Amino acid sequence: MNQTFHPSSNAYFSHKPVMLDEVIEKLSPQSGKTYVDGTFGGGGYTKGILDAADCNVIAIDRDPDAIARGAELKEQYGTRLTLLEGTFGAIQDLLQQNNTPSIDGIVLDLGVSSYQIDDPERGFSFKKDGPLDMRMGTSEFTAADVVNSYPEEKIANIIYNYGDERLSRKIAKAIIAKRREEKFSTTKELAELVRSVVPKSKDGIDPATRTFQAIRIHINDELQELESCLGAIDDYLKQNGRVVVVSFHSLEDRIVKSFFRLKAGQVSNPSRHLPDLGHTTPPSNYKIITRKAVLPTKQEVSSNIRSRSARLRTLERISPITKESSDV
Ligand SMILES: C[S@@+](CC[C@H](N)C(=O)[O-])C[C@H]1O[C@@H](n2cnc3c(N)ncnc32)[C@H](O)[C@@H]1O
Repeated sequence: MNQTFHPSSNAYFSHKPVMLDEVIEKLSPQSGKTYVDGTFGGGGYTKGILDAADCNVIAIDRDPDAIARGAELKEQYGTRLTLLEGTFGAIQDLLQQNNTPSIDGIVLDLGVSSYQIDDPERGFSFKKDGPLDMRMGTSEFTAADVVNSYPEEKIANIIYNYGDERLSRKIAKAIIAKRREEKFSTTKELAELVRSVVPKSKDGIDPATRTFQAIRIHINDELQELESCLGAIDDYLKQNGRVVVVSFHSLEDRIVKSFFRLKAGQVSNPSRHLPDLGHTTPPSNYKIITRKAVLPTKQEVSSNIRSRSARLRTLERISPITKESSDV
């Protein structure tokens, strides 16, 4: 999303949801059915789904501010919209609590919203100074806790694994040296430290980008959240229901892609040392709708830079929920 105004929207919906048309087309909402928007954010997808058919939406967000902002939509759509504060990794519990154990489709738009990035107080931005926080929800750990208390090796691993940062060890070393003098408390302090260690790249991307992404992913347990939500679909997704995921970096996309392949029975042989076990693959309960990830159009990328790295993938359930399928 970015903050560009859409002519037909009110001030609240002053952002552009990424790949909205493609998401609605893939989810293909139908009247009388119930869909989950696992990442409500600014409500762009939720509104799109509710406008596409006379259906219901259960909208989840871990950020209490996002849920509070949803009040305006709730007024507009009444009982068709249910807003739930929580994490999509705990989707089954949330659905049970809402007395809706199964649903007809789910969409996830991963990452942070522009409301979160653009508010310096949330501590996500390396461009604006603010407290070193980065929590999307209300978890206890902040980014400041990571850089001020974790051992050097753990910090280096986080930055390497979640940021794909070549200079992770150098950055971690510099963090430890700086915190011995004075603890980190602001985003500016961390961003400047990273910039002092990582040289500027030719593509103009801020050297702090990868480190901030890595710490954010760690604080919010983002990859584990995705795995938990996808891992439970046997239990909550109805026959013909679809999972539509929009991801923004390769770590997320890799999880989505391999999970979809696994569910669709397209797993390759786990080891080249084993005989070909292809024919023993159990019959699949799912089919992949997007053979390749769908990318945003050139027009969308030029009008909304955040969409640049988006990848959309869709999986469809072809079998009904049974006791056995939810036991597998
Ligand atoms: C990119 S925004 C979604 C934007 C939304 N599709 C729209 O059209 O306005 C991502 C939102 O998902 C929320 N979020 C991220 N991870 C979450 C999780 N594991 N559980 C629940 N909400 C999450 C964030 O708090 C943020 O508000």
